[in-house]
Amino acid sequence: MLPLKVLMCEPKYFDINYIGNEYMTNLNADFDKHLALNQWNSLKSIYENLGLEVRTITPAENLVDMVFTANQSLPFLSIDGVKKVVLSKMRNEQRKNEVPFFKDFYLKEGYEVIELPENISYFESMGDAIIDYNRKIIFGGFGYRTHENVYDFLKEVTGYETVKVNLMNKFFYHLDTCFSLLNSETALICPEAFSGEDFKKLTQYFNEIITVSAEENKNSFACNCHCPDGRNVVIEKKANSTAFLLTENGFNVIETDTSEFMKSGGSVFCMKMMYF
Ligand code: ARG
Repeated sequence: MLPLKVLMCEPKYFDINYIGNEYMTNLNADFDKHLALNQWNSLKSIYENLGLEVRTITPAENLVDMVFTANQSLPFLSIDGVKKVVLSKMRNEQRKNEVPFFKDFYLKEGYEVIELPENISYFESMGDAIIDYNRKIIFGGFGYRTHENVYDFLKEVTGYETVKVNLMNKFFYHLDTCFSLLNSETALICPEAFSGEDFKKLTQYFNEIITVSAEENKNSFACNCHCPDGRNVVIEKKANSTAFLLTENGFNVIETDTSEFMKSGGSVFCMKMMYF
């Protein structure tokens, strides 16, 4: 079963005031807050028009990256159908205080909340752990924001199969910046983000692989697109070559502008959390 609810956070306090990744180098240079809010509202409308239920979490002052709701939590349905969520341990100090707000949200939603054990020092949820809900597989990236050892724990608590890959390129620091699960048949992948062996490992799980060059991916966050239903793909509007390939492969492409968020190292996939 695919999740039909979308959790988003208005970018009220969104800012680029620390260096958290390779994109956040030009602090505040040409960052437009008003434009960011408009872009976020457009993305929210796209989800609503796709018939998904969008809920928002209240933004908290000083938590400039809270808009990236892919990162604080990993909600899932257990094998016996119970709503559970694993909470993240953020790698960067500037984001650690986001997590308790998400914990409260899930408790109100009736979720069973799972905290990470001591020995797992960092894990940024759906930035790195991408779930195939139909096949019950977690594709898991590690190296920059997530520690490899979280995947044994996730395997145990979810009962899902886990497929681990080591991220090798600092511009693609979360798995969702270089791998997009479109449906159980098709994935979009930037091969340069992985070792040859890990790339092959990922491709074995799909009938169809659409590849994205490192250049296109870096400039447009193409692999950070989001396909909530196996057919419609929401993608940054600069990702022209990828949009063309997606259309050729039978997907309905919905382009949207995420320029202000790309300056912080994120695009479509980072700004939402699908939950049950
Ligand atoms: N500035 C944020 C950070 O560095 C961007 C997060 C992007 N999120 C994602 N799921 N890739 O943490």
